[in-house]
Amino acid sequence: MAKTHAAFAFPLPPRQPGTPAYLWLCDVIRSGILAGHLTPGIRLPATRDLAKQYELSRGTVVAAFAQLHAEGYTEPRTGSGTYVCKTIPEHLLKTGRAKETRVFPGRRRNTTRFVRQIGAMSYHEAPSSRAFRANQPALDLFPTTLWAQIAGRRLRKASAFDLLSCEAMGYRPLRDAVANYLNTSRGVKCTAAQIAIVSGLQEAIYYAGLLVLNPGDRVCVEDPGYSGAVRVFNALGARVMPVPVDEQGMTVPKTRSRNVRLVYVTPAHQYPLGVTMSLGRRMELLKWTRTNDVVILEDDYDSEYRYAGRPMPALQGLDVQGVVLFAGSFSKVLFPSLRLGYLVVPPDMVDQVASIKSLISRHAPLLDQAILTEFIAGGHFARHIRRMRQVYAERLDALVSGAERELNGLIEVPRVDGGLQTVGWLNAGGDAKSVAKRAAERGIEVVALSDFWRGGTPRQGLQLGFAAIEPREIKRGLVELRKILREGR
Ligand SMILES: Cc1ncc(COP(=O)(O)O)c(C=O)c1O
Repeated sequence: MAKTHAAFAFPLPPRQPGTPAYLWLCDVIRSGILAGHLTPGIRLPATRDLAKQYELSRGTVVAAFAQLHAEGYTEPRTGSGTYVCKTIPEHLLKTGRAKETRVFPGRRRNTTRFVRQIGAMSYHEAPSSRAFRANQPALDLFPTTLWAQIAGRRLRKASAFDLLSCEAMGYRPLRDAVANYLNTSRGVKCTAAQIAIVSGLQEAIYYAGLLVLNPGDRVCVEDPGYSGAVRVFNALGARVMPVPVDEQGMTVPKTRSRNVRLVYVTPAHQYPLGVTMSLGRRMELLKWTRTNDVVILEDDYDSEYRYAGRPMPALQGLDVQGVVLFAGSFSKVLFPSLRLGYLVVPPDMVDQVASIKSLISRHAPLLDQAILTEFIAGGHFARHIRRMRQVYAERLDALVSGAERELNGLIEVPRVDGGLQTVGWLNAGGDAKSVAKRAAERGIEVVALSDFWRGGTPRQGLQLGFAAIEPREIKRGLVELRKILREGR
């Protein structure tokens, strides 16, 4: 078995005047062992190498090792080197841990309250093709082999420049491709210079918040709505105001508060209800934001998939005053772990976004951006959308017509115009949370819509995903739901 060597990269803290060098080094290694960075059984570097690394005399290092041996932390093995003891005396470990937890207690941010307030978002769940997993594209239909070929080709021609960095706003050819796509397919009016490539829409929401909000400012959000956005606004110290959604999308806020700075909205396919905001409502909302000097953040998370009706122009494209920030993502249209999305900002905000991006993550991973650019340029992006649109339309149809057939009025499933999921209203009564619980016991994944409300009275309903689910499994899910609802009666 290969020996495990310690990667010895501990910075040496300043030496207190009067402390001998060997005790100073001994202290650093001891702390490393107690903190668990140097694990039991690991081999320490040779004294000669350590002396060279820290510009100490070899005698100093030998004396430090002897001291650690005497204290029971390390053991020399003839002809092999010095190892951290397999069993460190328990009392030493306790002392070490206690010491460590006492470091700078008063200077740390009190994260407990902060974390409780924003909540953690767990996206790390296993993929599923079970009825009715929502928010997930059909990952098994993604052309991974083709992606791998493009990736291989692109990596083979990577230059030193590609391995170094790109502009904070993103890889220019990808920004050009996204600008072209947004102008032609989404009715967004922008140039490539206005586009920042970010790590998914979640990061775009965070940047939009940083650009617009001061602590204490108010943000209007859809009710029900996407909790991932609400948590970001809470984390930035803003106050969230829920605004009801009706069959035309988010209603125009009625608040007279002067502190409203931002409206966060999902007009293409309201999350989670799935309605598309009407043109009239879009115009009213734009007028309201202009009058009240409010910025809109338009979240366009899954609008590529549209099955019916005329495509509605993005709010950003209807806006003449530059009050709309537009954000989109490749998570739903390609695959979520790609972590690439975009934020489109008015020209006068470009420099601010570039500064924020360069501070927080410098730029999105360049090679992934380059691979995506080639995927788009080769026509594969458009082809993938076309193919998936057909698959998803069939699955939506299997869900809606299957629900009419199997559920016989127990659940009403509206035929949404687009997206990866819809809802099921429990019109004949029933508590959605308990239905979701009983469904989970039968291998059915549904979420009670009440989880998405934060102000108004929730309607009893379920979120039903269809994109990742084959028609046969959709049918099984509907049959199980029928049994659950009948038992409930
Ligand atoms: C409405 C909405 N906005 C934003 C996001 C975040 O997407 P991304 O994966 O691009 O960060 C999601 C994720 O599910 C979402 O549902």
